[in-house]
Amino acid sequence: MTAFPVRRPRRLRQNAALRRLVAENDLAPRRLVLPVFVKEGIDAPQPISSMPGVSQHPLAGVADLVEQAAAAGIGGIMLFGVPETRDAVGSGATSPGGILNRAVAEAARAAAGRLTVQADLCLDEFTDHGHCGVLAADGSVDNDATLEIYARMALALADAGAGILGLSGMMDGQVAACRTALDAAGHTGVVLLAYSAKYASAFYGPFREAVESTLTGDRRTYQLDAANGREGVQEALIDIDEGADIVMVKPAGPYLDVLAEVAAVSSVPVWAYQVSGEYAMIEHAAAAGVIDRERAIGESLLGIRRAGAEAILTYWALEVAGWIRDGK
Ligand code: PBG
Repeated sequence: MTAFPVRRPRRLRQNAALRRLVAENDLAPRRLVLPVFVKEGIDAPQPISSMPGVSQHPLAGVADLVEQAAAAGIGGIMLFGVPETRDAVGSGATSPGGILNRAVAEAARAAAGRLTVQADLCLDEFTDHGHCGVLAADGSVDNDATLEIYARMALALADAGAGILGLSGMMDGQVAACRTALDAAGHTGVVLLAYSAKYASAFYGPFREAVESTLTGDRRTYQLDAANGREGVQEALIDIDEGADIVMVKPAGPYLDVLAEVAAVSSVPVWAYQVSGEYAMIEHAAAAGVIDRERAIGESLLGIRRAGAEAILTYWALEVAGWIRDGK
């Protein structure tokens, strides 16, 4: 006689009501953060061709975006600045009149505590050579000279009203340098989100259009090598030791193993950044009719959540928050 299965895992999958009840993970609007590009000198949104559905926004549009984000119930917005002029040391990053600092001030005013206002703390949008730090005489990225500028940028962003600073430059010691400067200035409440395990990735390609990057070459002397998982975990542990309040893994989808390992050992919240290339792949594949757009978006985010991210930076934050609200 045939031995019929005693263990029947399909039992819990037999109908939608059961599947809904036993789902281990889900997404919530509060766990989503929307990255926003604010460009100096424009007066209407400018679409980014590599990222269908995403635009650069004028400063005057920031308050409206904050309203949309608050209405959607998402956890925050992460601001990036696209300045009109750039120089060797990224002066636009540290000056209070710089586009990012002004965008933060505008967003903080509009948010009025309803959601967090976060800012990218890095020089790449502000330097004429496009690197995340300043250059030494030999053309290499000067780690320690960059730390001094990051500390000043942290103060400028905190003065503007940023609640969370996203340290994305991958300089050694950046968390400690910013924490020390902030604390000395009395900004003890400003939260540091360390992009701890940030890999040198082809998936940042569309972002470089979004911020009109001037970079030639690559960032392999400071961002992590895709071959290395252990090193990503090590970076997170160092950042926690330096005082990071939150650590992040980036990109998300291709690095779920690193995310899971960091989540297993971290003593602070762990986030992930679903980057521009991850967004663009799904948008372009869906536009070509080869995948179901909404299902692919949901699955990509659930995978990141399942691997251990407690919050996710995603360009779909507003749309997905709407789906969740509508029970989709
Ligand atoms: C650096 C920064 C980058 C991204 C976020 N912060 C680009 C880089 O390191 O080259 C990429 C985000 C994305 O691709 O969506 N300021």
